[in-house]
Amino acid sequence: MPFPKVRLRRLRTNSLIRDVVEETDLPARRLMIPYFVRPGKDVCLPIASMPGQNQISVDVLVREVQTMARQGIKSVLLFGIPRKKDPSGSEAYAPNGIIQTAIKAVKKACPDMLVAADLCFCEYTSHGHCGVLKKGDVDNDATLKLIAKTALVQARAGADIIAPSGMMDGMVKAIRTALDKNGFQDRIIMSYAAKYASAFYGPFREAAESAPKFGDRRSYQMNAANAEEALREVAQDIEEGADIVMVKPALAYMDIIRRVKEKFHVPVAAYNVSGEYAMVKAAGQKGWIDERRVTSEILLGLRRAGADLIITYHAKELLLPRV
Ligand code: PBG
Repeated sequence: MPFPKVRLRRLRTNSLIRDVVEETDLPARRLMIPYFVRPGKDVCLPIASMPGQNQISVDVLVREVQTMARQGIKSVLLFGIPRKKDPSGSEAYAPNGIIQTAIKAVKKACPDMLVAADLCFCEYTSHGHCGVLKKGDVDNDATLKLIAKTALVQARAGADIIAPSGMMDGMVKAIRTALDKNGFQDRIIMSYAAKYASAFYGPFREAAESAPKFGDRRSYQMNAANAEEALREVAQDIEEGADIVMVKPALAYMDIIRRVKEKFHVPVAAYNVSGEYAMVKAAGQKGWIDERRVTSEILLGLRRAGADLIITYHAKELLLPRV
């Protein structure tokens, strides 16, 4: 329809009409908050490269989660930093390991909060890789056994969502089989389906103390240049029983989010990772950008791209009143 009959500015005249025709929203229920949990009591150690984020003990976590529940948050994602590390990452599947303790405490204090447990070994292994090693590389099938074992321990602790992030082939099938065999048919699997080998994870590795001691993660995480392969990863995980599929990182991979959303008819999660958070924080602290507006713009962009759920460290500052 040609101008002047059509004037697109008419629907932008004032905030009333702009609100009425707004297409995309960013409610609290779409945001999942990640937390880094470590042993101790009353612990709150700031993470230098992620201003505003801390390693916290279980008691602090419980208080945090209760506050966020009042703000309308429905789900959290927990990462554990164990007391000790070993070659197989055994603290990950110890029934009284840090993550299990955290899951139990949160579910007890806040039964209505969905608790997702990240399932990976890099925070728990002495070498920092995401599984057990054989000849200097992660042994896929040996790691699957430990993945199944860990999923069960997390489910027993009360995790609603198991979130495998190690990019092992067959990990979703291993988890679904173990859960179903043990009466946990109701537990959800949110797979880190298209997870790229990314420099954007830098600050997380400080936060979770999980940097690999040698080499990198390119033999299991994806090459940033590949999109078709991401679709194959997602298809395979859905086939194996994933209920929610994740694309990670988010910003440099919005095309993947959109393509996954269009091709598959399952909920899509986008992980707005540590490096994406750190960039916004750093520029905000320098006064180079309006941090709050940039944050909403980024998260809205991810929603527009097709993310049903956004895992983000920004959730807290968006929801709590500014001090
Ligand atoms: C563990 C894991 C990582 C992240 C989530 N789970 C790091 C990695 O793969 O090295 C990154 C999250 C972030 O950067 O915020 N496998």
